[in-house]
Amino acid sequence: MTESGTSTPPLPHAVRIAGTGSYLPERIMTNQDLERLVETSDEWITSRTGIRERRIAREDEFTSHMASEAARAALAQAGITGSDIDLIIVATITPDTLTPATACYVQQQIGALKAVAFDVSAACSGFLYAMELARHSVGAGAFRNALIIGAEKLSAFVDWSDRNTCVLFGDGAGAAVLVPSTNGGGRILSSQLGTDGAQAELLNIPGGGSACPVGALGAAGTAEKSATLTMQGREVFKHAVNAMRKAAAEGIAAAGLTIQDIDLLIPHQANLRIIDAIVERLDFSREDVFINLDKYGNTSAAAVAIALDEAHREGRIQRGDRILLVAFGAGLTWASAVIEW
Ligand code: UT7
Repeated sequence: MTESGTSTPPLPHAVRIAGTGSYLPERIMTNQDLERLVETSDEWITSRTGIRERRIAREDEFTSHMASEAARAALAQAGITGSDIDLIIVATITPDTLTPATACYVQQQIGALKAVAFDVSAACSGFLYAMELARHSVGAGAFRNALIIGAEKLSAFVDWSDRNTCVLFGDGAGAAVLVPSTNGGGRILSSQLGTDGAQAELLNIPGGGSACPVGALGAAGTAEKSATLTMQGREVFKHAVNAMRKAAAEGIAAAGLTIQDIDLLIPHQANLRIIDAIVERLDFSREDVFINLDKYGNTSAAAVAIALDEAHREGRIQRGDRILLVAFGAGLTWASAVIEW
C-alpha cells in the first residue's frame, strides 16, 4: 500500500458534532431469504461475516430520501432546521443520478435552501472524508453549520445472482451536524485520510460511467463490464485490516492520545472478522467496540454514520468520551477520526 495518508494542521476554531441521526428502510432481508436467492447458507454468512440481516429500500425510495430522513433526525437533535445549514456534503457511491449530486436533492427535501451542496465519492470511507472537509470548512470560518451524510442504496447496484457479494450489502443512511465548538464543548481532535488508487480494481462498479457507458453494456452486460458491484474479497480483506489498523493508530497519535484513552471504537461495519483482527492488532478491549453489522450488513458510506448515531442514542457515548471512528473502502480509501464528545 502506498503512503498517501494525510494529517491536518490545527484550525482557527474547534468543531463539534451537535446532532446525529440515521434512517434504515423498513424491509428486512434475512440470511434465510438469501438462501432462496443464491446457493448460500445462514451458517456461511454468519460465520464468515457476522451478518444476520440487512435492510432493503423500496423501489421508489432513493438514496436522497434516506439521506434526508437521517438529516432530519440529526437536525432535530441539534435543535436547528434546514434553513440554518450552510453546507451539505453527502457521501455516497449510489447516488440518485450521476448528476446532479444527491446532496442537491437533499437540499430541497429538507428546505436547506441557502446551503452549498455536493457529494463525495470515497466509498466506505466517504462519511469520514465528508467529516474532514466539513471540519475544515467550519473550523476555518467559511461555513457555520454543516450537515454531513453517508447514504447508500446498494441494493440497486448489487448483482443478486452473485453470492460472493449480494450477501454482504444493505441500504441506509446516517447524518451528523457540525458546528463551531465554543465554551470548551466537545470537538473533533484529529483526522487521517488516505488513498491508494493502484488498488482501484479490487472493488468497483466497472460499468455505467464514461469508461463504459450504460448504452455500451448491452442487455445483460458482462462480468468485466457490468453496472454492478464486483470485489476480490480476500485481497480487500487483507488491505482493510492493515489500512484501518494504521489509520486508527495514526489518528490516535495525531490527537496526542494513546489507545487506552479511547472509550469507544466505531469501525466500518463490513465484516466481524475484520473488526476482530483490528481490535486484536490495536490491543483494544472488544467490549468497547460498537457493532451493528449483524442487523444492517455493509452499508458503505452510511455504516460509520449509522453506527455513530446508534451508539449515541443508546447512551454508549457520554460527554467527555473519546471516540475513534475508522473506515476503509473502494479506491482504495481509508480514514479515521478521533472525537472528544
Ligand atoms: O466495505 C468495503 C470493504 N469490503 C470488505 O471489507 C470485504 C472484505 N472481504 C470479506 O469480508 C471476505 O473476503 C468475504 C466475506 C467477502 C469472503 O470471505 P472469505 O473468507 O474471504 O471467503 P472466500 O472469498 O475466500 O471464499 C471461500 C469459499 C469459496 O469457495 P471455494 O472456492 O473455497 O470452494 C467461495 O466460493 O466460500 C465460497 N463462498 C460462499 N459460500 C456460500 C463465497 N460466498 C459464499 C456465500 N455462501 N455467500
